[in-house]
Amino acid sequence: MQVGEALRGRISTRAFLDRPVDEATLRGILDTARWAPSGGNLQPWKVHVVTGAARQRVIDAVKARLNTDPFADENDFPVYPEKLWEPYRSRRYDLGEAMYELLAIPREDKMGRLNHLLKNLDFFDAPVGLFFVIERAMNPNQWAHLGMFMLAVALAAGEAGLATCMQEAWTRYSKTVGAALGVAEGEQVYCGMALGHADPNAPVNRLRSPRAPVDDFAVFHAD
Ligand SMILES: Cc1cc2nc3c(=O)[nH]c(=O)nc-3n(C[C@H](O)[C@H](O)[C@H](O)COP(=O)(O)O)c2cc1C
Repeated sequence: MQVGEALRGRISTRAFLDRPVDEATLRGILDTARWAPSGGNLQPWKVHVVTGAARQRVIDAVKARLNTDPFADENDFPVYPEKLWEPYRSRRYDLGEAMYELLAIPREDKMGRLNHLLKNLDFFDAPVGLFFVIERAMNPNQWAHLGMFMLAVALAAGEAGLATCMQEAWTRYSKTVGAALGVAEGEQVYCGMALGHADPNAPVNRLRSPRAPVDDFAVFHAD
């Protein structure tokens, strides 16, 4: 698979088939992804892979937390800046609208939209969940390098014929997830990822979010 094909072909998949992925395949994906670069070659990433009963334990722990406190938020900092400004605000809004249109959940159906959001906490039924972890003492630089690793995982999964969805939705329950996985005190669960076989018949998987053209974000300096 060519790099361009892999990058353009990766999308966030939000409906998966009930079909397992074996550990050898998962190890192969991580074995490829570990070649992601990092400043000083620190390789500041850690990843917890959950399948089977372990996957269910995390889901149950988070749902129990949600049931006791529907407004639980264990984030050390909010996922997005408090008030998004343009063009980011519209991009986020447009993504939501495009997704709910495919799901046929109108704006007025607040419960329907909430229920879809909660599917994050079932990994959208994917058989595999990954949690990306970083030591709290790391700087913003190392977080960027963790992101490179995450993309490498998604691309390597794509090469293996598998689909993914990165999931910051889990960070709201990062401490609960960390406790369920035995993550060390000095480490932070940053992000989840659902991984498995895409459901080809699910309309939500037709979502192809747009990107701004190169001239919107690139400045070419010459002379
Ligand atoms: C770090 C990260 C976290 C994300 N978290 C979620 C999430 O919790 N739930 C979700 O449905 N999508 C999530 N997404 C998917 C984004 O909405 C998606 O990447 C973006 O809209 C671009 O679409 P594409 O991935 O299909 O190209 C996340 C993406 C990234 C990179």
